[in-house]
Amino acid sequence: MTTQIFVDRLRTLGVIEPTLFGGFLEHMGRAIYQGIYEPGSPFADERGFRRDVLQALRELAPTIIRYPGGNFLSGYHWMDGIGPKEQRPRRRELAWKSIETNQFGVDEFIEYCRELETQPMLGVNLGTGTLDEAGALVEYCNAPQGTYYADLRARYGHPEPYGVKVWCLGNEMDGPWQIGHLEAHEYARKALETAKIMKWQDPSIRLVLCGSSSAHMPTFPEWDRVALEECWEQVDYLSLHQYVGNYHQDTQNYLGLTRLFEYHLQTLEGTLRYVKAKRRSKHDVFLSWDEWNVWYKAQEMDGRWSEAPHLIEEVYNLEDALVVALWMNVFLRFSHVLKIACMAQLVNIIAPILTRTDGLVRQTIYYPFQLFRRYASGKVLDVLVHSPQVETREYGEVPLVDVSGSYDEENGRTALFLVNRSLNEAETVTLNFTGWTPGTSARVISLAGSDPKLANTFENPYVVVPQDAGTLPVQDGTATLRLPPLSFTVIAFGS
Ligand code: AHR
Repeated sequence: MTTQIFVDRLRTLGVIEPTLFGGFLEHMGRAIYQGIYEPGSPFADERGFRRDVLQALRELAPTIIRYPGGNFLSGYHWMDGIGPKEQRPRRRELAWKSIETNQFGVDEFIEYCRELETQPMLGVNLGTGTLDEAGALVEYCNAPQGTYYADLRARYGHPEPYGVKVWCLGNEMDGPWQIGHLEAHEYARKALETAKIMKWQDPSIRLVLCGSSSAHMPTFPEWDRVALEECWEQVDYLSLHQYVGNYHQDTQNYLGLTRLFEYHLQTLEGTLRYVKAKRRSKHDVFLSWDEWNVWYKAQEMDGRWSEAPHLIEEVYNLEDALVVALWMNVFLRFSHVLKIACMAQLVNIIAPILTRTDGLVRQTIYYPFQLFRRYASGKVLDVLVHSPQVETREYGEVPLVDVSGSYDEENGRTALFLVNRSLNEAETVTLNFTGWTPGTSARVISLAGSDPKLANTFENPYVVVPQDAGTLPVQDGTATLRLPPLSFTVIAFGS
């Protein structure tokens, strides 16, 4: 049996928000210090930003970056990170037991985002932080000069407001590990009062409410319902987080994780609908998957009170990259409700980019992200897929070939994203075009390998990289291609 795919450009599911292709940078380990910021490095520019990392991030092109945490956020006082650098305090940072020098703060972050032409997504501390601090940060970032915090920003060299649009109301406040963890109803009250102050400061901002920190939390999805019921009218997104891994060294099962991702999104979509109906509201709240990634191998989380310790520097392999591609397929299929997603994180900490003093390596997961970012735009296609099923231990049957697609009316580009879950067999795929005929050929790009454990290292950095697999001829309204086993393939029409 082969796989048949039917592509009708009139059948679309939702608009792809560019913010589905976001990232995350936390003051943790070597993400900021020795990651994006390393004064004194031969790679550093005059601001201390590493040029090689900037270049790799430019090519990845995240559309939005969440900052400054993470668990770090819940003990962070943002004023520590502004003003003359020699006067900024060194602090014991409790989330990761590290020393925080505060040499990088909100002004440097905004500068970094501008350099990358990406959008900032800031968080306010709802652990040890106060309502006042949260409101002051919005004023500092977004108010015109003429009042205390806006003038402070100007005094530190930034006369024009930053205009930060998306703000997180804390981080993973459902988790007992969180500094200042709260019960759902306590968080809901604090989030509501904070949201009011922040929106009084700037009514144009959009707020992200903390949802459950994973679908495995015992309080999922009740936490989400309680927080939403209290804050519905004040917030715009509900946050969800999830990290996954191949815990049982069962690759077939690992590639079945789309079922968990779908379950997670379906459950929260249902919760959103329920709360909207219960509140008789006309307002809509969407989902923000603002921490997602593979993370299970690297578990060092104790900084032993050092600066920029090596924490959770996960090394990624081919099967991890396929899970990332599958996850992003799910993002597209749920784009009617999922509007923001931030790969966690971007540099060194569970990241597509790993640095050393003498350079960097693009890990396997860098490439599926880059390909989706480059080729998925416009609307999601409601692609019909007839594929053989494969059995997985935890998730039952899943299709051998997992597919998503996009169609951008503005530039006429259509793209298909396909993962072949077979561990050892190529799969023949026939594309059938309904109601349209692509030009004569399409470009095919493939990320594949013979062993799921293949990884890119400093010594061998190009083991798992996308290959140009040539052009795909289209004849009589169909096209046929072979997908290698363990592969991610992008088929791009009209580009
Ligand atoms: O990304 C690493 C950590 O994972 C974040 O700080 C936290 O939000 C999550 O638990």
